[in-house]
Amino acid sequence: MDKLKMTAKVIRQDEIAYQIYSLVLSAKEIADIAKPGQFVNLYSADKSRLLPRPISICEIDKTAGTLRLVYRVVGDGTKEFSTLTSDHTIEVMGPLGNGFALEGKKAIIIGGGIGIPPMLELSKQLDCEKSIVLGFRDEEFLSEEFAPYGTVYKSSDAGNIGVKGTVMDAIKEYGITGDVIYACGPLPMLRAISDYALANGIVAQISMEEKMACGIGACLACVCKSKEVDEHSKVNNKRVCKEGPVFYAGEVEF
Ligand SMILES: Cc1cc2nc3c(=O)[nH]c(=O)nc-3n(C[C@H](O)[C@H](O)[C@H](O)COP(=O)(O)OP(=O)(O)OC[C@H]3O[C@@H](n4cnc5c(N)ncnc54)[C@H](O)[C@@H]3O)c2cc1C
Ligand code: FES
Repeated sequence: MDKLKMTAKVIRQDEIAYQIYSLVLSAKEIADIAKPGQFVNLYSADKSRLLPRPISICEIDKTAGTLRLVYRVVGDGTKEFSTLTSDHTIEVMGPLGNGFALEGKKAIIIGGGIGIPPMLELSKQLDCEKSIVLGFRDEEFLSEEFAPYGTVYKSSDAGNIGVKGTVMDAIKEYGITGDVIYACGPLPMLRAISDYALANGIVAQISMEEKMACGIGACLACVCKSKEVDEHSKVNNKRVCKEGPVFYAGEVEF
């Protein structure tokens, strides 16, 4: 089945760290077909904000028919979402994007900042040995929820959580090894991970974030530079919302 648009009931919302919210939506039809690494488009109730906001799926509960999203408030759209309570509904479209391909090899799962949420469902679903490396600015969130699924290592810019520095510093400091890397986070982090994976011959699936408009492959607002010529646009471009957001290291320029 393809993506669908529906009205989802808000089950609960909690502020889990400063300006970071966990939102659980009842969206059975989307939860039924969603995969780790995919995202949804959330629509504002304010019609002056036409464009949907893409947010990654953090957890999928197929039994309850719910999706959990974890997001940071950065502008008007996310500020509006943060006011939602269990009395509300919201328009949502999904699941969107390709998601991660699950490989049964020793995995290094890396999440940086607001790139951490999609790694939770991936950590749950991957059935193999897992090292989970989480990078924070200066405030920790979600990390204890990863603990049942692998060994968790942490880093922070401020040095108050785990190793002082980046996720790459934590990988070196702890001597973390693996056969496949899965990553999501800020662009400089993804670039460093891609370079590290290519230099060491490790397969890396990297989830990219790009400014989006339609979120469904129609407008080309989200293209990034690719190695191969794209079938759709006939140039060296890939649409992050459609062919991505997950790409292999070497497939696109980070
Ligand atoms: C595939 C994908 C998954 C994402 N997952 C998450 C997540 O799990 N948690 C989270 O906190 N954030 C996530 N983001 C970023 C999130 O979409 C933006 O923070 C959000 O759209 C900002 O909307 P706003 O109205 O609050 O901010 P504004 O800055 O007011 O937004 C203005 C416009 O720019 C677009 N925009 C702004 N920043 C981004 C951005 N970083 N990416 C894409 N479009 C943007 C908005 O959609 C909107 O159309 C994701 C982005 C992408 C592309
Ligand atoms: S956001 Fe329109 S094609 Fe990707």
